[in-house]
Amino acid sequence: MTTAIVHPNIALVKYWGKRDKALNLPSTGSISLTVDRYETRTTVSFGSDHDVAYLSGRRLQGKEHERVFRHLDLVVPGRPPAEVVSANNFPSAAGLASSSSAFAALTMAAAASAGLSLPIERLSELARRGSGSACRSLWGGFVEWRRGVLADGSDSHGYPLAPQSAWDLRLVVAVLDPGQKKIGSREAMNRTTETSPMYPVWVNTADLDLDEAREAIAARDLSALGAVMERSALKMHATMMTALPAIRYWQPASVAAMEVVESLRAGGVSAFWTMDAGPNVKVLCEAHSADAVARALAEVAPAVEVLGVGGPPRLIP
Ligand code: PMV
Repeated sequence: MTTAIVHPNIALVKYWGKRDKALNLPSTGSISLTVDRYETRTTVSFGSDHDVAYLSGRRLQGKEHERVFRHLDLVVPGRPPAEVVSANNFPSAAGLASSSSAFAALTMAAAASAGLSLPIERLSELARRGSGSACRSLWGGFVEWRRGVLADGSDSHGYPLAPQSAWDLRLVVAVLDPGQKKIGSREAMNRTTETSPMYPVWVNTADLDLDEAREAIAARDLSALGAVMERSALKMHATMMTALPAIRYWQPASVAAMEVVESLRAGGVSAFWTMDAGPNVKVLCEAHSADAVARALAEVAPAVEVLGVGGPPRLIP
């Protein structure tokens, strides 16, 4: 039995939509930041009587149960029955990227428990099959998930861009609603791909965003990274809002948080927001301005969390 401890990642340039649904291959590349403090701990033990999985003490049933054990079948083909025990120290399924750390941790713990020593790129590729964003959580710091060109997806996994120690930034999370989201990212991105007239624009402009973000990270240029990060989030949400029927994760409090970020910027604080498949707003800023950003967001958000740049996953035997 092995436990994997994995941090979630938040996309700065987003992944939204697949070129291959079965293999979970993305239409575009994406770039993320692995965060610290938030983590998923997952233990996999083989040799139980039957397959059983718990998430934060709750026994998984139905589709959730199936998704976990289908993933184990993929990582350890021909495996014996297994017990999976997983817990997050942050709210699940509220656009706080829980699936990124969940499937990365499940993949790592399962492979290690089965005694498989797979290259990290292969683990990333397997994690991608569970949840796309998970392939970026195999590394700390800044990570790119390349779209890849191969039909079997073997070149579509995470590639580290800069380690945790490269740039001391903060991601301040305005937790506006820790509840479960109404529509999951998988269903939402498929509907967007199939119905939004804006979707081709999203795909056609992604490479430029990726180039700009990569350069900004290499140059440690927060204004440049922040500009492309907000643009990527706005474009992603624009494709969703123009899907049929429309998908809108934004709530009045999300817009209020965006306005707080704009006023901070007008006052000379370098701060930039992003939002995922949930109402929470995450604000990237310099370490020395994190307190000011957190105080300003606390005016509009019931809870605010300050996260740093996280490191790579750990395994505990
Ligand atoms: O791979 P999923 O199902 O966790 O989808 C992630 C989608 C976003 O969080 C909105 C964007 C991203 O790149 O993480």
